[in-house]
Order: sequence, then structure tokens, then C-alpha cells
Amino acid sequence: MEKLGPGSNADTLQVLAMIPHDAFAVIVDAGSGVGRQTLALANGLRTRVHAVDTSERHLASLARYSAESGLEHLVETHCIDMADIPQTFPEIDLLWAECAAYHMGFPNALKTWFRAIRPGGYAVVSELSWLREEVPDPVRAYFQSGYPDMRTADQNLAIARDAGYDVIATHLLSKAAWIDGYYDKLEPLAKSLLQHPEQAVRNFADQTLKGIRIFDSAEGNYGYVFYVLRKPELTSTAVCKQTT
Ligand SMILES: C[S@@+](CC[C@H](N)C(=O)[O-])C[C@H]1O[C@@H](n2cnc3c(N)ncnc32)[C@H](O)[C@@H]1O
Repeated sequence: MEKLGPGSNADTLQVLAMIPHDAFAVIVDAGSGVGRQTLALANGLRTRVHAVDTSERHLASLARYSAESGLEHLVETHCIDMADIPQTFPEIDLLWAECAAYHMGFPNALKTWFRAIRPGGYAVVSELSWLREEVPDPVRAYFQSGYPDMRTADQNLAIARDAGYDVIATHLLSKAAWIDGYYDKLEPLAKSLLQHPEQAVRNFADQTLKGIRIFDSAEGNYGYVFYVLRKPELTSTAVCKQTT
């Protein structure tokens, strides 16, 4: 799979354009996977992007894709835990995380990365979010077992503000980004695994197909929301406190 989660370059670049800056010295893509968005960012900004993931295999695919697109000089891979980003990158100008923060828990990820972002720097984090209060029972039940921590977009905005960020904008991932190159590839693959000898694989294939059916029937009850956040500049009082 060239995409490990729902997403598209069109959405990535649309969100990038919402940031009131277009030059960043240090860019980190947390949970980059095979790097669709890493390459979109590197190409769009013509700046080096540090791709962080714990999977050697995904990072090797990313290295291959960057070489194939002539962007290898703009992509650096790091096989590290995204929880350790503050130790490796203490002064980030743009922290990007598509479809990945949930691995650390959205609130924990925002809090951890806040320490690594320089004052005035940005975090763009996408997170699966409820978009309505009233959700059909089968949809609610599916996520109750699959992602019980899923919150409403308003709750996620409150979490971002509590962690210290200013909210610049939000963007709802397009429906096409779920289907093109993701569900349209995943569906036949999952169907082909329904008779797999291993029970765990059969269960995974079944859950995947269930997720696709839920998406088809959910009519906008949930979606991937990009939260475009900024760490405030230091105020003069804060600067005084820091230096005393
Ligand atoms: C659903 S994929 C999303 C990949 C990519 N951002 C995208 O949108 O296509 C999540 C990625 O997070 C990585 N990941 C999971 N836990 C991680 C951790 N603690 N530190 C770094 N990467 C992690 C996985 O290896 C996987 O590549």
C-alpha cells in the first residue's frame, strides 16, 4: 500500500496553505509511514523533512519513493519512537502528524510535542473525530470497540487549547481521500484474506471490511479532522520568567 491511512496530497497541500508561513527550518513528520505526506511536504516546501517512524520497513519504502521522485536530498528518515521527538528535535518549526497521533493518544501526543515546538512554531495533527452528537447505533458500536477514545472535534479543540496551543484552523479530510488509493485498494485485499488459514488474519480482514461498510453508511458522522495549531510566541513576562 502506498497509503497507510486515509489521506491525499490535495488535502495535505490545502492544509499547508492554511499556515500563515511558508518557510520552516525544521520540519518533522511524526508517524510518517511510507511517507505520502512527507513527499508532498518536501516537494511543496522544497525543504528537508525529517520522517519519524518506528517501522524500518515503512522507512525503507519511503527512502525508495523519495529516490524515485528525485526528492532524496529533501527527506531524512529516523527510526525512533514519536514519543521521543522532543529529545531528538528540540526546536521544531513545523510538526506534521497525519493519521498517527492516536498511537500515543491525541492529548498525550499534543502535550509531548508542545515541548519540542519552538515558540511561534506550528503543529498540524489529524485525528479521527466525531462530527455530530447523534450517531447511528451501528456506527457508535463499531468505534466503541475499534477506537473507544474517539472524541468530538470540539473536545479535541479543547484538548489542543489546554495543551497550550492557539487554534489556527481546522480542515475535514475529503471523502475522496478515504477511497482513492486507500479503501479502493484495501477492500479487494481484505476480501482475498477472508479465507486465510490464520484466524487473526481472517478477523483483521473482516474488521477492515466492516470499517469500509460503516464508512459507506456513516454519512458524515465522523471524519479525519486536521487541527492546525500554533505554539504562542513567548510574551515579555514569560521571557523574564525563563531568564530569571
Ligand atoms: C496509520 S499509519 C499513517 C502513516 C502516514 N502518516 C499516513 O498518513 O499515511 C501510522 C504510522 O505510525 C507509525 N507508528 C506507530 N506508533 C509509532 C510510534 N510510537 N512512533 C513512531 N511511529 C509510530 C506506524 O509504524 C505507521 O507507519
